[in-house]
Amino acid sequence: MVTEIISTHTPELFQKAVRLAAERLRTGEVVALPTETVYGLAANALDEKAVARIFQIKGRPAHNPIIVHIADKEMARDCVARWPELAEKCSKSFWPGPLTMVLPRSEIIPDNVTGGGETVGVRWPSHPFMQAVIRECGFPLAAPSANLSNQISPTNAEHVCSQLDGKIPLIVDGGQSQVGIESTVLDLSVSPPRILRPGMIHGESLAAVGLPMADGWLPIESGSLKSPGLLKKHYSPKAKLVVLDWPDEAELVAKIINLKLKTQNCFVIAHTNIPAGFGAGNVSVIPHDAEAFARALYSELHRCDAAGAELIVVESPPDLPEWSGIADRLQRAAA
Ligand code: TXA
Ligand code: MG
Repeated sequence: MVTEIISTHTPELFQKAVRLAAERLRTGEVVALPTETVYGLAANALDEKAVARIFQIKGRPAHNPIIVHIADKEMARDCVARWPELAEKCSKSFWPGPLTMVLPRSEIIPDNVTGGGETVGVRWPSHPFMQAVIRECGFPLAAPSANLSNQISPTNAEHVCSQLDGKIPLIVDGGQSQVGIESTVLDLSVSPPRILRPGMIHGESLAAVGLPMADGWLPIESGSLKSPGLLKKHYSPKAKLVVLDWPDEAELVAKIINLKLKTQNCFVIAHTNIPAGFGAGNVSVIPHDAEAFARALYSELHRCDAAGAELIVVESPPDLPEWSGIADRLQRAAA
């Protein structure tokens, strides 16, 4: 299959891409589309056969549910059986944006979208292209991240192409994803609500709008399959990844040697203690700012993999709520 990559950087190209993507989606095809978190691999969420293709293309286990993307509140309400007060509150505060709410499913949602369960995750993305396509289609879009199962999510069209070229007919290039890590998944089907997957909308933001939260979230080690995104090993680069702290370069080198890791093809990603001339290794710096770090992180990991990195050393993130989504992804990538 030839994969067409189309851009959206002028109003004319944008409109043309919206029409082309919607045409494909109406006939049950699967296409890669930009969102503000990461790129999504989208299909008509109401078409079981189209959704089945997503699982096949990604090599995704059938029990892993897929997030349904909508472009207004009515569409969200059509997908769920109940719309509690807390859903109303969260949608007012955080939609459109990087928050997925898990609620009891309605009967229009096919079984394979929910992984056979009784709940569905719904999200109203803020990316203008994704919104325009959903409106043009008039139906919700099921879309997991546009990567092969267990690999790093794509944050630009090139990343998608490197994993899915020849497997899908269309990739829409909507630029760099502005959030950079996947949405926060909040389970509102239980009381009190639980964060199933942390993201850039963190527990304290949710608490600030009056959400009663369970203490923290399920420890990853508990291995709950409530959200398969909680599996310990997930979102991994090909290289071995370790998260370390170091006051200076000598200690960084000592730690790497102590861990009996090879320092050839070693890439360091730092935000605060930046090693100056780190031996044979490559150093990249992401600003010490959670939003900037999240935006750049997956691109750095993709770049390290593409450059044949054998070891990626990431400077550990600060233990602060706004870094919790980043800490979670690094922990899984290092597992
Ligand atoms: O930011 C995002 O969420 C991106 C973009 C494309 O929107 N999508 C994404 O999808 O990350 P995916 O499939 O890679 O991750 C979805 C996560 C999985 O961990 C899945 O288990 C969880 O959301 N999830 C989806 N529906 C669920 C449900 N009904 N109950 C529990 N967890 C659910
Ligand atoms: Mg994913």
